[in-house]
Amino acid sequence: MIIAIDGPTASGKGTIARALAAHFGLPHLDTGLLYRAVGRQVALNGGNPDDPADALAATAFPESLLADPELRSEASGGLASRVSIHPEVRAALLARQQAFANQPGGAVLDGRDIATVIAPHADAKLFITASVAARALRRWAEMTAQGRQVSREAIEADLAARDARDAGRATAPLRQAEGAALLDTSALGREAAVAAAIALVEKQL
Ligand code: C5P
Repeated sequence: MIIAIDGPTASGKGTIARALAAHFGLPHLDTGLLYRAVGRQVALNGGNPDDPADALAATAFPESLLADPELRSEASGGLASRVSIHPEVRAALLARQQAFANQPGGAVLDGRDIATVIAPHADAKLFITASVAARALRRWAEMTAQGRQVSREAIEADLAARDARDAGRATAPLRQAEGAALLDTSALGREAAVAAAIALVEKQL
């Protein structure tokens, strides 16, 4: 069984993907982490994330980089969004994601193009979304809990810029795939969002 989950940053798709993987007993791949690793590796190489050759070279990042907590930072998210525009970067990460999706027994993958490009044959497809205001509030609460001083306005502006880049790019733009169920988590807490996601997956099986 393959479950494909797409959606914008801070929509709750990561939390939902992990919960679905636990519920159905499937391995999970957070594909955003791969793009974050490429973005971080470009920076470590002293390269330019907007240069396709520099970005492509960074797809050869060491496996150990995936465990680096720095990948979770806003800076790495911004770099990921820039390197992910290049078709050659997406192509370089394709085989790895498809191999994970097609492993015997199935898998849960979350990202931006799972149901549209990586696994259009998935058994269940979810498109998770939430308003920019709701997503900014979650991100702000997360960062404030970590003792960081940020304004909600700055986070909202950053999210909106990231959305525009992800949805506006020519290769594999973020969009709801044909047959994907839409789940808006704006007004839902964690438990309610996970319960709704499980129900939507079961309906598609
Ligand atoms: O989901 P996350 O915020 O970790 O993703 C970081 C960035 O990586 C996104 O803003 C997006 O530009 C890119 N990405 C992508 N395709 C995916 C996953 C992430 O382009 N499947």
